[in-house]
Amino acid sequence: MTLPSQNSGQDVGAPGASLLWQDGALTGKLVVGNWKMNGLAQDAKLLVQALLAKGAKTAEDGQLGHHGQGQILNGVRMAICPPFTLLSQVRDWLAGGAIALGAQDCHAEPAGAFTGNISAAMLADAGCQLCILGHSERRQAGETSVQIAAKLAAAHHNRLLPILCIGETLAQRQAGETLAVLADQLTNSLPFTLTGGNPPLVIAYEPVWAIGTGLTATLDQIAEVHQFLRQQTVGLGHVPLLYGGSVKASNAAEIMALGDVDGVLVGGASLNAEEFWQIALAAKVALAGGGLSTAAA
Ligand code: PGA
Repeated sequence: MTLPSQNSGQDVGAPGASLLWQDGALTGKLVVGNWKMNGLAQDAKLLVQALLAKGAKTAEDGQLGHHGQGQILNGVRMAICPPFTLLSQVRDWLAGGAIALGAQDCHAEPAGAFTGNISAAMLADAGCQLCILGHSERRQAGETSVQIAAKLAAAHHNRLLPILCIGETLAQRQAGETLAVLADQLTNSLPFTLTGGNPPLVIAYEPVWAIGTGLTATLDQIAEVHQFLRQQTVGLGHVPLLYGGSVKASNAAEIMALGDVDGVLVGGASLNAEEFWQIALAAKVALAGGGLSTAAA
């Protein structure tokens, strides 16, 4: 399968895909909400409306940057990934705004007899611009890196920006295997070699032991891993690196101030509009505070 080049962001098929990247590059900080298996229509609508109201208020205050270019705040991009059932409705609620729509998984095949699955083409058709892939909650349920690589290729093919999740378990960290595990997941979850191709791609480092536990990796642990991932992906051009695992308003700014952290993938805290919005504001603070990542061209 031929992967799109870094310039693919210019002619993406999915509506509004330029919310996330221009000229193949994603700049500034990226704040992504992963709703997981949460959300019924009524509550979801209130959540989205509350987020949009906060964005509108920011616009009135003159803080909003290039709204039309997908920055909810100057230098900050936001996306939410609801469950499949809500994608079309959330797309309509978000229409015309600066928050992008994403999905939490896709199937590798374009169509066919795969009961219960959703293809990347369907996600693009539903208005998605990105797709989380390889989340540890799926890896723990048996998903392999090889399967994830096939999904990633399908996402690319349909102009969805993939957020590839990798992370070690507590046992692996305690055994000193963290970097080896991450290198293995990274190498085997990409449908191309790390020295070839130059596709738009985001990687999220999500230590399994920090997800949904309230335990956040220390700044030193995050910095070490992100530096390692930066080196590992150097052959791909600039790959934005997110951190995920119990990110909340109170720790988001210091995490995003780290030089190699280009944003965050947020689970539980993205279900609360105020908390999620505070995380977006923290991204802006991190940018302004000199923690400008190399992604902010
Ligand atoms: P959490 O989840 O923020 O609830 O820890 C993060 C994730 O799983 O992406």
